[in-house]
Amino acid sequence: MTGTFTGRSPAAEASPEAPGLSEPSKGLTVVTKEPYCAETPLPELDTWVTPTERFFVRSHFPVPHLDVESWRLIVDGEVDHPLELSFADLMRERTRTVVTTMECAGNSRSSVYPPAQGVRWHHGALGTARWSGVSLWDVISKAEIRPAAIEAVFEGADHGREPGVPEELSYAMSVPIVKAEHPDTLLAFEMNGEPLTASHGFPVRVIVPGWYGMGSVKWVTRISLIDHSFRGFFRTKPYTFIHEGDDPDVLRKPVTSLQVKSVITWPPEGATVAPGRIVVRGAAWSGEAAISRVEVAVGLPDDSGEGGTWRPATLLGPETPHAWVRWEVPIDLERPGYFVLRCRATDERGDTQPLRAEWNFRGVANNSMHAVPLIVRRSA
Ligand code: MTE
Repeated sequence: MTGTFTGRSPAAEASPEAPGLSEPSKGLTVVTKEPYCAETPLPELDTWVTPTERFFVRSHFPVPHLDVESWRLIVDGEVDHPLELSFADLMRERTRTVVTTMECAGNSRSSVYPPAQGVRWHHGALGTARWSGVSLWDVISKAEIRPAAIEAVFEGADHGREPGVPEELSYAMSVPIVKAEHPDTLLAFEMNGEPLTASHGFPVRVIVPGWYGMGSVKWVTRISLIDHSFRGFFRTKPYTFIHEGDDPDVLRKPVTSLQVKSVITWPPEGATVAPGRIVVRGAAWSGEAAISRVEVAVGLPDDSGEGGTWRPATLLGPETPHAWVRWEVPIDLERPGYFVLRCRATDERGDTQPLRAEWNFRGVANNSMHAVPLIVRRSA
């Protein structure tokens, strides 16, 4: 970026160590302490791969401390040969590495109005990492899955209580068989070339590329194949689309694939710059399609997304199936004033980010255009 930045980055906010974590959460903004949820300030997401210590953490319960020697993975349910596997058993499979963007379904909830229920994430429950492990299907297919199986349920070793639920819960989430079969759906034991950290799921977690993060179950210890739709708490309550007037006792559409979305990672929100040219940078992604276009507007678009001056950004790549693309665009801000930058991405299916995403009670899958207020001042 040319022009001077004097804005205060959220990175400067306090980021105390998480209770019960073995690694410090350097540079993260803690959103809730218990359960531990910490997000990445947007300027720290200015690289293709997010360093592990800068990767957001979303845990519903305290981190379970597992060790490799005693860790076991059970594969059961609609299978002819239930399995109990050790870490050494996994290591015998062929290793696969996938770079994938993970976004929490509740990301950007703080900008939903009326306020939605849930952790008030800003835009940083988001990151891209290089995950290595083994294809999930290579492992679970050894159990001889019966044709009746339609979903795989992943259960983590973490457990605790959720408001309004009398009994203790484990974290569990399901995916349809077609997602479990995809070779890039992993049982991952490395993140960015190192063993998983405790907060990111040591020793083994699931990675479900293209989906919101809730499917990528950490500390996985059981995979059950089932012949019906999973009705667990996390599948049917927090990670569903609930609209005004819906009957709370009727099941809702579950959150699955990532919606098309983009963020501005530079300049930071609220920055002050000198008049002249700035290079606006960011990232764009979509769960099931490649990004075809990103545009940045200066000025206020109306509800149809029109108005303002839209400029096409250059897509910098790299182009890979599951990770965000980086983009940049030079913007000339000749005169002093208060401005708003907005970005919107479009994917190859033709889906475009709305100015304001449709409201839902949990504020999930919010892909409204990201807005960055900016001050242009001669004395900057
Ligand atoms: N897995 C377990 N066992 N427990 C959890 O609380 N949170 C899920 C998912 N897997 C969760 C979990 C959610 S909602 C998200 S967004 C991602 O983990 C976050 O992964 P991270 O903490 O490694 O960034």
